[in-house]
Amino acid sequence: MEEIIKGTNRKIQGNIKVPGDKSISHRSVLLGSIAEGITEVEGFLMGEDCLSTVDCVRKLGIDVTVRPSGQLTIHGKGLLGWKEPLEVLDAGNSGTTLRLILGLLAGQPFHSIIKGDASLSSRPMGRVVKPLSLMGAVSDGRENGNKAPLGIRGGNLHPISYSSPVASAQIKSALLLAGLYAEGTTTVEEPEKSRDHTERMLSSFGAKILSQDKKSSVQGFPELRGQKIIVPGDISSAAFFMVAAAITPGSELILEHVGINPTRKGIIDVLQKMGGKINLENQRIEAGEPVADVVVQYSPLHGVTVAGEEIPRLIDEIPILAVAAGFAEGETIIKDAGELKVKETDRIDAITSQLALLGMDIKPQEDGMIIQGGRPLKGAPVNSFFDHRIAMALAVAGTRAKGETVIQQGECVNISFPDFYQLLRKLTL
Ligand code: S3P
Repeated sequence: MEEIIKGTNRKIQGNIKVPGDKSISHRSVLLGSIAEGITEVEGFLMGEDCLSTVDCVRKLGIDVTVRPSGQLTIHGKGLLGWKEPLEVLDAGNSGTTLRLILGLLAGQPFHSIIKGDASLSSRPMGRVVKPLSLMGAVSDGRENGNKAPLGIRGGNLHPISYSSPVASAQIKSALLLAGLYAEGTTTVEEPEKSRDHTERMLSSFGAKILSQDKKSSVQGFPELRGQKIIVPGDISSAAFFMVAAAITPGSELILEHVGINPTRKGIIDVLQKMGGKINLENQRIEAGEPVADVVVQYSPLHGVTVAGEEIPRLIDEIPILAVAAGFAEGETIIKDAGELKVKETDRIDAITSQLALLGMDIKPQEDGMIIQGGRPLKGAPVNSFFDHRIAMALAVAGTRAKGETVIQQGECVNISFPDFYQLLRKLTL
């Protein structure tokens, strides 16, 4: 479906709330399903990716009540309460669903098959399947077990100490979740620290977790108890509106109840480094996660270099960061971000090619991109390549371009932010 975005200069003002955090929503269902007793979730993200996770655990025999308001009740059956599924599990477009469920399936003494859509079927799964096989899980799939659909037979795991070649919370989480089913200590080390929602949530469910710098360990066979989980607003969704306000003169926007976990708030740190005026108010901890109201005011931005440990803390925000860089004075260099190539689409290719169509001076690099900011944008037909974060980044750029920007396959925002266009139009038109 095409989505038409009109260029405007209207100041972005007011108070908004963005939908629940995608990473935390997935984990609430998965951990709730393997805990003893009831888990109540508030603020669950009703996007397609998280609903894929619900669908999978239901096929594994878990009763989940989903209310349209984003309140969930999960009737957990304990670590070994899942049943061998009759049907193929379907992760849809969601890498988190597929990789984290693989970790849990590795611990189950039965056979299951999991598939995904065309995008997910082209993404690498060997990065999870190989270490799980070192723990004793038996699995196979297309391209020598690297691509979905994947079949897995779990059970009888032993703990490992694994040094991951990439900073990826999905790899780390899959192994820690499998570690719940291995007698002893399972440890994962990463080159840079990735998001730590799994560690935080496992600890609140009662698991013994040790997390220090780039290393996390879990003890096998804990007693997990159902919890009440309040999901904060997703900083990755908030980022689109933070940048919209940061690049539109006269704007002042308050984003209420946003998760500001240090392993996720790289976008705020980098926008501040670029000269952005962002304040965190009313900071508090809810269900083990730091939360704040984020106040963004327009101010002129300048180019920066973003690299190294900053990258995993804003990996999903790089498409919208590229938009901010296009409106900043001078050069922005984004490097060490080769992981972007294996997201829902090749995001280096997608964002650089489509922002260039709008007139931005942006060049792809092997592990990132270089942007010369300050060139005016002009609306044009562009493509999301069915990647929700590309669609939303292009839409924000489109509001600041002259004329109309037409986004092909714009409907993919339903993956993580179903009301995105309504909210963008309310603020900009
Ligand atoms: C996620 C981890 C990140 C991120 C994805 C969600 C998670 O992926 O890009 O959107 O919830 O664990 P990687 O672990 O592949 O970096």
